[in-house]
Amino acid sequence: MPELAYCRGAFGPISDATVSIEDRGFQFGDGVYEVIVAYSGALFQAEQHMARLRCSLQAVEIDYDFDAAPLVPIIEEGLRLSGLSDAMIYIQITRGATSRIHHPPSDMTPTVVMTFKAFPKLSTELRERGVSMITLEDQRWAKCYVKAVTLLPNVLAKMEARRRGCDDAILIAPDGNVRECTSANVFIVTGNTLVFPPRDQSVLHGVTQAFVLTCAESIGLSYEERAFDVAELQSAAEVITSSTSVEVLGVTTINSAAVADGQVGDVTRRLQREFLRRTGRAPAGVRA
Ligand SMILES: Cc1ncc(COP(=O)(O)O)c(C=O)c1O
Repeated sequence: MPELAYCRGAFGPISDATVSIEDRGFQFGDGVYEVIVAYSGALFQAEQHMARLRCSLQAVEIDYDFDAAPLVPIIEEGLRLSGLSDAMIYIQITRGATSRIHHPPSDMTPTVVMTFKAFPKLSTELRERGVSMITLEDQRWAKCYVKAVTLLPNVLAKMEARRRGCDDAILIAPDGNVRECTSANVFIVTGNTLVFPPRDQSVLHGVTQAFVLTCAESIGLSYEERAFDVAELQSAAEVITSSTSVEVLGVTTINSAAVADGQVGDVTRRLQREFLRRTGRAPAGVRA
């Protein structure tokens, strides 16, 4: 069964999986989520994703009992049943279903759903070509470190980017500093250093971002966590985005202007190679 859902404690086809229309995830966007990939049948950075999920649940006061129903064994079982080798697993936990009132009753049972799908292979062509961005004012809430399902501002920003013929948007704080993309983190390269915005409450603390930093170290790059503005972003030697689904991509244009020479840069390529090598997907003999 290549595409699979987990819903109401059971596995089955995605088309058969349903939740109540009174679920607070549907009524209020009252829930959190994670996206995890598996490479060659093994979950990638599962511990880090679980730690962030716990942090998100705690931040929004959803009481999920990990001891009673640990998620990793369920995810591993789903992966096994799906038969997928490279998979993308979406996990959503909402506060549960109840009649529609803002203040939830205290005895709610969280709803847990998961989907298991093939990990869409990133084309070499996309890695080579890079992506185009616009910058937009960040209109999201103040707790973007929480991976909440409430993603309307992200969706609208992405729609605006596509309307303007670009791949995505880089979201900018009211003080002019760069935060992140609609569904990815962002780095700039200055010399031999990867610079990324402070991991405060205004951005998601990317699991891939943290992994990219370890890749950077192992290929001799340093890194710095500090604020930078749009002018510094646009004049950077390289701009890079990272996420579970895009891994590492170069940004080649921002607001229709080329980043440096408009090509994916050397640091980006080295990080991509190291990422592939460390996840067991590098062509034999290729070194970062
Ligand atoms: C807003 C935002 N920032 C960053 C990321 C990257 O996070 P991760 O690397 O953990 O996938 C995501 C991923 O979905 C995201 O939605």
